[in-house]
Amino acid sequence: MLVTVVTIFPEMFPGPLAHSLCGKSLGKLWNLRTVNIRDFADDKHHTVDDSPYGGGAGMLMKPDVVHRALTDALSQYEGIPKVLFMTPRGRAFTNKVALEIMEKPRDGVIILCGRYEGVDQRVIDHWKATHGMLEISIGDYVLFGGEIPAMVVMDSCLRFMDGIMNNHESTQHESFAVDLLEHPQYTKPAVWNGVEVPSVLLSGNHKAINEWQLEQAKFVTRSARPDLWLRYSGDA
Ligand code: ADE
Repeated sequence: MLVTVVTIFPEMFPGPLAHSLCGKSLGKLWNLRTVNIRDFADDKHHTVDDSPYGGGAGMLMKPDVVHRALTDALSQYEGIPKVLFMTPRGRAFTNKVALEIMEKPRDGVIILCGRYEGVDQRVIDHWKATHGMLEISIGDYVLFGGEIPAMVVMDSCLRFMDGIMNNHESTQHESFAVDLLEHPQYTKPAVWNGVEVPSVLLSGNHKAINEWQLEQAKFVTRSARPDLWLRYSGDA
């Protein structure tokens, strides 16, 4: 699967994605290409931004330059890639959105990273209309640009790729996959800092362990995320 990141900071990639299981499978299960938006500027200063009509603070990315960069990104695909635009104005990113992005047929992903105060609306509207561009936000806070959000989305989506995890089952049981947060977990030593691992986990009784884990997951969810708890208990 080819992932293309369209950005003015290509040197930020693969960054953290070169590590861990993401990194191990890079070049095998997935490939990364960056497109430098600046390469598609048409003046000698390689200008990618300009001031907004109507005034206001900050600069906007120019539609013509961004369009040429996206078109170059698209030229490397045979199928129809999903096109994402990272913006705080987008749809809230969740595990469910990650699963939708990774739905088959999976012809790859193009991710446009915004910078400055945003991107000219015409290029967003054009790519929405022609390529179903999806605007995605990773949370209700504003970062300097879409590069870190793009990494978050890639990391999360790649977990759903067949063959990438040692234990694929773990993605299905993980936090949010079932609207419950994960129960607490323990490893050796059995006593650390004077605190013992809960005895049920040492009992070998799998039914009792599963019940304990479920109760703990419910407790953690109810305390930390009442919104998730409502959804879970409403569904049950
Ligand atoms: N760019 C800046 N802030 C962002 C956010 N919260 N989500 C996605 N893209 C962004």
